Amino acid sequence: MEPRRSFLTRFVTAGAALIGAGVAGLAAAVAVPRRRGATHRWRAAASMFDLPPKGPFVATLTERHADGWHETRKSMVVFLDKDGDEYRALSATCTHLGCRVAWNEESGHYKCPCHGGTFNRAGQVVAGPPPEGLRQLPVRLNPDTAELEVDL
Ligand code: FES
Repeated sequence: MEPRRSFLTRFVTAGAALIGAGVAGLAAAVAVPRRRGATHRWRAAASMFDLPPKGPFVATLTERHADGWHETRKSMVVFLDKDGDEYRALSATCTHLGCRVAWNEESGHYKCPCHGGTFNRAGQVVAGPPPEGLRQLPVRLNPDTAELEVDL
């Protein structure tokens, strides 16, 4: 009788351990968000020929996100500009409270309509309450399509 009881005890213990490991793995997969890592999500924003000689080009990029039955779309306005031989992409979202800044051709600055935040062409704060410059986004020129691509 003793060997049978011992076998059952080991069987139940092994089964409980397997179930516990499975539950722990599932919990870890749900609780730990996946890291974005170094992968880029390049989006075509504009042709390099769209950039005006003076001032930046305004592009609106839309990102679609599907999650189960929900689908959301998020739009982001980006300023594309050329700085010497380099291209620059700046977010149009003010770093103070999130209003949308606009390029002011006369002054050569980005101006925020909400509290007077002012940024130079490189996106650095010149005046007003914004705590930091406009967010700079990675941008590259696709040599095959002549399009500027932005990593959102
Ligand atoms: S939100 Fe732009 S200055 Fe306040």
